[in-house]
Amino acid sequence: MGKINCRKCHIDAIIPGMKLGKTILTEEGKVALAEGIVLTSRILDRLRTWNLTYLDIYDASVELENQHPVTYSQQNFFDKYSGTVDFIKYTFDTIRLLKTVPIDDIRHLVGKAIDPLIHSVGVINHLHMVQRQDDYTYHHSVNVAVIAGVLGKWLGLKENELLNICLTGLLHDVGKTQIPLSILNNPNRLTAAEMDVMRKHTTLGYRLIQNIPELPLSVKYGVLQHHERNNGTGYPLMLNGDQIHLFAKIVSIADIYDAMTSDRIYHQKSPPFEVVELMVKEMFGSLDPLICSVFLNNVRDYFLGNTVALDDGREAEVVYLGHFISCRPVVRTVDGDFIDLEKNKTLSIAKLVKA
Ligand SMILES: [Fe+2]
Repeated sequence: MGKINCRKCHIDAIIPGMKLGKTILTEEGKVALAEGIVLTSRILDRLRTWNLTYLDIYDASVELENQHPVTYSQQNFFDKYSGTVDFIKYTFDTIRLLKTVPIDDIRHLVGKAIDPLIHSVGVINHLHMVQRQDDYTYHHSVNVAVIAGVLGKWLGLKENELLNICLTGLLHDVGKTQIPLSILNNPNRLTAAEMDVMRKHTTLGYRLIQNIPELPLSVKYGVLQHHERNNGTGYPLMLNGDQIHLFAKIVSIADIYDAMTSDRIYHQKSPPFEVVELMVKEMFGSLDPLICSVFLNNVRDYFLGNTVALDDGREAEVVYLGHFISCRPVVRTVDGDFIDLEKNKTLSIAKLVKA
């Protein structure tokens, strides 16, 4: 693992002579380009043939943090992801001003950028490793679109429906563009009155899209109902069970998983193992048990091979998940110890280090 100060830089903005900040690996795990290497025009041309558009560049002014090498597929995923977040930021800022949704542009984005992301090998792990800037809502919208699309795939949705579920994920919080920035960006805990305003984002989002004739009803219901809960405790209409549209159920699971595995103002992100455990507890209450079990049974497969930090400070690899959905897998520490966390309850996973 390298430790180097670096920042992301578009390949066209890189000047020969700059140093690579993070090692790039081949898919087989061999070093293709080592961190610290001086980038020449020839190397940059070669990187372009690998379709890499953003690179980590050494920059002494950036605060030092732990860096892990990336593979081509991770780097390609991060490239597409960064471009998509930039587009959503621009689009949502425009919707805030104009109060109209440029549906053709957003649909184009779903087909061109989100669809390839949901079909990427290792998609869930790549999402866990994305380095976010502060723009939570934009990252969250893209993540929910990707996770909803992946869950749609696991549920056997057809390609056209997959595009629509990604579109629902991307638009689920579009109503937040109509919430005053003083509330949306409030660093303090919201008051009850402010929370009521915030909750209006579901109906405000629906209103923004309800008269777009080419948008299917499934997308409109998905946006309106994504905070409804299976046991009737959600909003805005306190619907329950079958009254809630399938798309809203899929998006709500993607929404909860991403929110809990992400850093937010009042919440430090939880390791995916812990989030899965918490979702199991919700599975027979607020969430649809069938859709949630499909999600949890598939998402856990991505955790095998992850590097985690234990709460005694040691790093370890997840080597066996056990038969049940649990946040206590068998791990192998860097010093070669195998620990079954299900049996050794004195140790826990403190955080995910590398997915
Ligand atoms: Fe929401």
